[in-house]
Amino acid sequence: MSIRLGDEAPNFTAETTEGTIDFHQWKEGSWAVLFSHPADYTPVCTTELGRTAGLKSEFEKRGVKVIAISVDPVESHNGWAPDIAAVGGTDLNFPIIADPDRKVSQLYDMIHPGEGDTSTVRSVFIVDPKNKVRLTLTYPKSVGRNFGEILRVIDALQLTDAAPVSTPVDWMPGQRIIVAPTMSTEDARQRFEDVEEVRPYLRWAKQPTA
Ligand code: BEZ
Repeated sequence: MSIRLGDEAPNFTAETTEGTIDFHQWKEGSWAVLFSHPADYTPVCTTELGRTAGLKSEFEKRGVKVIAISVDPVESHNGWAPDIAAVGGTDLNFPIIADPDRKVSQLYDMIHPGEGDTSTVRSVFIVDPKNKVRLTLTYPKSVGRNFGEILRVIDALQLTDAAPVSTPVDWMPGQRIIVAPTMSTEDARQRFEDVEEVRPYLRWAKQPTA
């Protein structure tokens, strides 16, 4: 069964490049990004994992732990790690799950039979500190993901959790936000700066600070 937004992220125990991990225990109290890649020693995957390693401080700043998965065994992940470091310019600094029996991949519906073989497609699950799934993305094997977009979504989720706001099309951190429909314009003027009502249902405001 597919995993929907708001569902509890299914827990699992798995072998990783950093030892055996119980997912919920490993991420306890943190946000997490769980993302699959099709196979080790493949070009797009090498660039994606290298980029993720280079973004470690950006994920840490936001309280996010990152974990990758593929159906290859842990010895393969360990053998591939120097290539990821060489291509990305940073040592591998997050665990990669080894899932040769496809237990976790099937639990998260990461294998799409129409996509060629029994390896995982490029899935992304953003999970919040309470283990709720807050975002899912699925990319085909031939298309690398944009990890800047993953950071942008985490920023938007953390902002909209903290205040009654939404983020508009193409929003980037620091830009104007939209006041939630549940808040009156009068209340919005008390709470936010630079409120502009362009329609009764569309009120812009300056992004609130934490
Ligand atoms: C890649 O990472 O380059 C890749 C992996 C599987 C299928 C296609 C591309």
